[in-house]
Amino acid sequence: MAPRFLQCFLLVLVVFLDDFSVSLHASQDPPLKLDYYESTCPSVLEIVRKEMECAVLSDPRNAALILRLHFHDCFVQGCDGSVLLDDTYTLKGEKKASINDHALKGFNIIDRIKNKLESECPGTVSCADILTVAARDATILVGGPYWDVPLGRKDSKTAGYELATSNLPGANEGLLSMISKFLYQGLSVTDLVALSGAHTIGMARCVNFRDRIYGDYETTSGMSPVSDSNLNNLRTICPATGGEDNKESAMDSVTPNLFDNSFYHLLLKGQGLLNSDQELYSSIWGIETKKLVQKYAENPVAFFEQFSESMVKMGNITNDQSFVDGEVRKNCRFVNT
Ligand code: HEM
Repeated sequence: MAPRFLQCFLLVLVVFLDDFSVSLHASQDPPLKLDYYESTCPSVLEIVRKEMECAVLSDPRNAALILRLHFHDCFVQGCDGSVLLDDTYTLKGEKKASINDHALKGFNIIDRIKNKLESECPGTVSCADILTVAARDATILVGGPYWDVPLGRKDSKTAGYELATSNLPGANEGLLSMISKFLYQGLSVTDLVALSGAHTIGMARCVNFRDRIYGDYETTSGMSPVSDSNLNNLRTICPATGGEDNKESAMDSVTPNLFDNSFYHLLLKGQGLLNSDQELYSSIWGIETKKLVQKYAENPVAFFEQFSESMVKMGNITNDQSFVDGEVRKNCRFVNT
């Protein structure tokens, strides 16, 4: 880990220079290969794809659940399936960490894929790889881009409860802090803006957007009749006080189940649902991020290309330790005995 003063210096460079990408954390290129399971489990991609088709067909929200799970896996110890582990007497999983508690779902979809793969090619395909491929398929199934997924990750035997809280950005995260958390993972400002485009699908809970809708939403959205009515609607779903913390609203109210670039159009209109999302366009530090939001709003192809590239980069954040003593779990929820 680089000393604090060096981190601050690099952060300033990142904010003011055009996408100066540097890694404080990521390792060298991980030993992943596109054809990793070619001889040991040739049907892996087909099996994952079929299961994801069923899941997304039955409810498009499932695509969002899996995409988010993959992100929350990769930012904690690398993409090693650690997020999938249940609590046991000897292991404190990541699921109950405050940022994940009540906020992560879709584990049963991964269980189903794992069961199918265990009967087809037992003990072969890691849960971390399943989640990575499933996230790619989830994206395609709701209209997003395709990318090739390098494979060969190992599953961890440990989880990072504390790391989940420190590494993952929250709904009210400021821009500089988000940049710094991405940088720590070896991801750039461009990666941050492109990957945030995942919020073009899925829902957020009132507890995560209350500060925004009773905060600067009115200011950023310019109080047009349309934004006024959107805001009133959001405030009805999510009252300032009282319960309703778990009531949900789509992050992209225009096309909630479609993977497109309308998330960026909402940011241009100052109508991002999360403080963290609107920061990308409205923060005083957001000279570079604002340009990127404008670019992806204007050019959906550029967004799709960058999203694919950034997803491969995020998926390649590996856990070096898991290559030394990792395993292929039989059940994604538990370390092998
Ligand atoms: C940039 C920093 C990010 C922040 C601060 C952030 C924060 C959040 C928050 C607060 C929610 C709502 C959770 C809830 O209310 O239960 C959410 C949902 C979601 N996030 Fe992010 N996120 C970020 C980046 C990402 C990335 C990189 C991805 C994937 C590539 C992603 C994918 C999703 C998806 C798909 C959902 C919807 C999940 C659902 O429908 O349940 N997010 N995010």
